[in-house]
Amino acid sequence: MKIIICTFLLCITVSVFGGPQELNGIVGKSIEFPAAVETSGNLIYSSKANAGVTIGDVTDGYFTPQNEKFRDRLQWHSSTGHFSLSELKLEDSGVYKVEKNDGQKSASFNLTVWIPVSKPHVMVTHNKYPCKLMCTVEGQE
Ligand SMILES: *[C@@H]1O[C@H](CO)[C@@H](O)[C@H](O)[C@H]1NC(C)=O
Repeated sequence: MKIIICTFLLCITVSVFGGPQELNGIVGKSIEFPAAVETSGNLIYSSKANAGVTIGDVTDGYFTPQNEKFRDRLQWHSSTGHFSLSELKLEDSGVYKVEKNDGQKSASFNLTVWIPVSKPHVMVTHNKYPCKLMCTVEGQE
């Protein structure tokens, strides 16, 4: 019962104070923002250093990149209406807002870009109680 109540409260909290949707990306890979712009809209990027820069514009179904930093890496897919960003960099982390100019609600995504790591190696270093595990990962950078 407690669990049900908590889940219910959590749902209310999320819908009332719903912040941007969390997205995770990996350096060098690409990410798609799952909010469709049908014919006209913008993609706006905000980070600690920049407050709300328009980086992509879609007008009447034609996409134009708006920012040097994202040019060549930012795309808009007319079939799905989604924006995507490729060759991710650590500094691409931030909030991306998909603004729709057709009167529909805009959507925000909080993107965090991570450095890729290999699968963790888990080793039992002490097999009596209390058991100890050692986890190590190798980064690519
Ligand atoms: C975005 O995510 C980061 C890391 O989880 C968090 O510190 C930050 O507060 C989030 N920003 C917003 C606007 O939700």
